Parts: sequence; structure tokens; C-alpha cells
Amino acid sequence: MKIIIFGAPGSGKGTQSFLLIKKKSFCKISPGELLRLELFNKGNLSSKITTFIKNGKLIDDDIIFSLISRYLNSENILFDGYPRNLNQALYLDDNNVKIDLIINITVSFSHIFKRMKYRMVSEKTYSVLDLLNNNVDCIRYKDNDTGFNFLKRIDDKYTIIDKRLNDYNIEIVNILSYYSRSGVFILNVDGNHDINSVYMFIEKNISEFYKKNE
Ligand code: AP5
Ligand code: MG
Repeated sequence: MKIIIFGAPGSGKGTQSFLLIKKKSFCKISPGELLRLELFNKGNLSSKITTFIKNGKLIDDDIIFSLISRYLNSENILFDGYPRNLNQALYLDDNNVKIDLIINITVSFSHIFKRMKYRMVSEKTYSVLDLLNNNVDCIRYKDNDTGFNFLKRIDDKYTIIDKRLNDYNIEIVNILSYYSRSGVFILNVDGNHDINSVYMFIEKNISEFYKKNE
């Protein structure tokens, strides 16, 4: 099964992916997380990547392809933040990765800005510290033992969030219409509710989808 989670920055893609892979065994492909790891490791491309992410711009497709290609043979994949344009969607087709289901999360701008304001991320791992819903359950990928710091993301600044949101709203129209024309089932999710309610809705619908398509 190959699933894509779409949603604007801060809509909860990472949060819901984390909960879903705990329940079902998916290989999660999140270019954003892979890019942040590349920055932490100070890889060859880190200065180029930093400039793009800091300014809320998409990274060149070729760099993204080189990051994700090694995972595409997995049987069950959950894409978080990919594809971001039509060319990236076509790359999946060229590699015989057929998408079965799309989860499309929508959230109001006011919720998004509030959530981003209170989000911290681990400098090394994929952990998120959510100061808004501040309780232990919200400290994901518990890396308390590693000693790595939780920091603000370099692209979580008001003006950059605004740019990322606008760009997302433009990109997503073409991508969704491409998958809709291809006959892929799109599950629309109201992401304005609390984390658990959103998860329960998604989980229930995925299970029903599995049953129908077994
Ligand atoms: P990426 O890392 O993918 O960022 P994004 O798409 O902007 O999304 P975010 O990670 O900011 O938000 P999210 O939806 O995961 O929300 P989260 O679950 O953390 O990309 C970053 C950059 O990398 C891009 O701008 C680009 O430069 C580059 N890049 C990435 N992919 C690329 C690609 N394919 N091609 C080219 N470039 C690419 O939730 C946010 C907060 O809200 C958390 O604190 C969470 O706890 C909280 N929260 C979540 N859900 C709820 C809820 N229901 N109620 C209350 N709080 C909630
Ligand atoms: Mg994310």
C-alpha cells in the first residue's frame, strides 16, 4: 500500500504520519526530515539546502530524487511532504510507485500559525516538542536520552510560513487534480480538531479502505 499525506505546513502531516507508522508498518518518506538530517550532518549540499529552506523555497527535484530513491522499492510507503509538484508525482510513476490512497488534511490559517509558533524540533532526530499541547504524549520520538536540543526550525518564521502556505496552496491544486484524474481515492480530512480525533478519523478510513481493496 502506498499512501501520500498532503497538507499545508503545520497541518499535522508529520504528527499523523508518526501515529500511523506506529500502528501499521510503513516505510515513511519525508524529504523535509531527510533534508534537516542532511543539514545536521553538514553534508555536501548543506549550504545550498539551508539557503532554500530558510527562504521557504522548494529544493531542486534532482536533490530530492537522490534522497528518496533508495526507499522506493518498499512494499508499504507513507509519503509525508512528497510530491510537491507535478514533476515529483511523475517521478513516482516512472519508478512504478503506484499511489493507492491520498490523505488530504486541511486546517485554518489561524490554527496553523498558532501551532507553528509553539513547535520546536530536535536538532538531530525527527522529534517534535509541542509547547502548545505541552504534555509528555506530545514529545515524539523520545530522544530525552540523546541530549540533543529542541530548536525552532529555520523556516518557522512568520513571513516564511506565510510564503510556504501561499506556495503550497498554488502547488496542491495541480497535484490533487492530477491524482483525481488518475482515479486515486482522496480522503479529505478536517485537521482543525485535536490530534487524537484527527488520527481516529484517518485510521478508521484507512482500515475501511484496506478492507474494500484486499
Ligand atoms: P517539510 O518538513 O515537509 O515541511 P512542511 O510541509 O512545511 O510541513 P511541516 O513539517 O512544517 O508541518 P506538518 O504538516 O508536518 O505539521 P506537524 O505535524 O509538525 O518541508 C520543509 C522544507 O523542506 C520545504 O519548505 C522545502 O524547502 C523542503 N522540502 C520538503 N519536501 C520537499 C520536496 N518534496 N521537494 C522540494 N523541497 C522539499 O505539526 C505542527 C505542530 O502542530 C506540531 O507542534 C504538532 O504537535 C502540532 N499539531 C499537529 N496536529 C495538531 C492538531 N490536530 N491539533 C493541535 N496541534 C497539532
Ligand atoms: Mg512535517
